[in-house]
Amino acid sequence: MTINSGNPAQAGVPKNLSRDGKVPVDLLISPIGELVTAESKSGPIRGEYMRDVRRIRDAAIAISGGQIVAVGKADELSEHIFTDSSTTLIDATDRLVTPGLVDAHTHLIFDGNRADEFVMRSQGKTYTDIAAAGGGIVKSMRATQSAGVERLVELGRRRIERMLESGTTALEIKTGYGLEVESELRMLEAIYQLKAESVLDIVPTFMAAHAIPPGRDRERYVDDIVTDMLPRVVAMAEHQAEKCGVSAESMMPYIDVFCDRGYFTLDDTRKIFEASNRLGLKTRVHSDEFVNLGATTLAVEVGAASADHLLNVSDEEIALLAKSDTVAILLPGTSFYLNLSEHAPARKMIEEGVALALASDYNPGSCHISSLPFIWGLACLHLKMLPEEALTALTVNGAYAIGLGANIGQLIPGFQADVTIYDVKSLEEVPYNIGWNPVKQVIKKGRIVYSR
Ligand code: NIG
Ligand code: FE
Repeated sequence: MTINSGNPAQAGVPKNLSRDGKVPVDLLISPIGELVTAESKSGPIRGEYMRDVRRIRDAAIAISGGQIVAVGKADELSEHIFTDSSTTLIDATDRLVTPGLVDAHTHLIFDGNRADEFVMRSQGKTYTDIAAAGGGIVKSMRATQSAGVERLVELGRRRIERMLESGTTALEIKTGYGLEVESELRMLEAIYQLKAESVLDIVPTFMAAHAIPPGRDRERYVDDIVTDMLPRVVAMAEHQAEKCGVSAESMMPYIDVFCDRGYFTLDDTRKIFEASNRLGLKTRVHSDEFVNLGATTLAVEVGAASADHLLNVSDEEIALLAKSDTVAILLPGTSFYLNLSEHAPARKMIEEGVALALASDYNPGSCHISSLPFIWGLACLHLKMLPEEALTALTVNGAYAIGLGANIGQLIPGFQADVTIYDVKSLEEVPYNIGWNPVKQVIKKGRIVYSR
């Protein structure tokens, strides 16, 4: 047995639930060809520890009340658990099993699409050219502004379904296609509705600072965000918290800014971050995607939860990140989809000890990819990450990056039972099969929520 050394009391199960010292189990996955999980109860995993995952052949996972109660070798574990006719059994012989995947950066809510821009790029236009000609984020803004909350929820629901089929069990979702207060709040409302109805864990981010709305003065728009939008965001989160009977803190969205040439300046970003901090809102930033404006340094200074993209991060900033709790979220799908020749310096970051996560950046323009197994393949190909490092980045570190690390992203007793089962035999076969969905079954909070 593992972690809990076979003692049900240590497995997070109340003593009065155990029968003759055995843990009653309502879902048992056994046997498992290969179980792989990263483990850390003390925050994101760094450096060489990222590849130091736990691999168990002929494994089993016992689940009760939505939680993992035991993990280990199938033959050893069977002595410690109690199953009866009400226990659901999953046979994962010859299959790989990992924690449910975590997508820590998505722009999942938008109306319309930008397939035309994909074609334009294949003919030589860049993301920047297209945005300057009235496409890009502003094009999605036009489509999204005219959509009501219900339509946005419906669009989001279908996309979340697709993510689940690729093994994602928790995700962050940003606003940012409203770009004026009422539309931004409609997007946020849609995210809260999805959060309430979905079996997946959803973490909201407010990103009115995604682009400068056409015809608006940039500085005035930033003022609007600071003086009008952020307080209303807090009020909405408080209202949601009351409605759901949870703490206001647990409903507060993160605040994100696209700090890049043609978008928001370092000064704008600082103003928005300072206002966020005053309101008790945590921050994250789109940093160094096209040019380096210093946003990563600022992110570390203000204690942002993450700095994302980082294609043009400097060596000094990598050193700063390494000493901080700010997670670097790399998005190899975006550099691939934009056909860039440069990628984020993942190897250097790992060597220096940066807390590194991977995510999809799923959005209508720069990365219309929502499959994390595909992102995993790109991380190995373009970022030169090992399959084990990518798993750590897509589970434990992704979960910590969105504030859920103490409860999800690991196959250990006491953690939420979020499990992805693949139709391949070993970890390496996930990135190896890039382009084909290897996910066979998904368990969320101890329930089978997807089977193929
Ligand atoms: O992360 N970089 C800024 N935002 C998105 C792009 C969104 C879009 O093009 O619609 C990104 O790449
Ligand atoms: Fe993004």
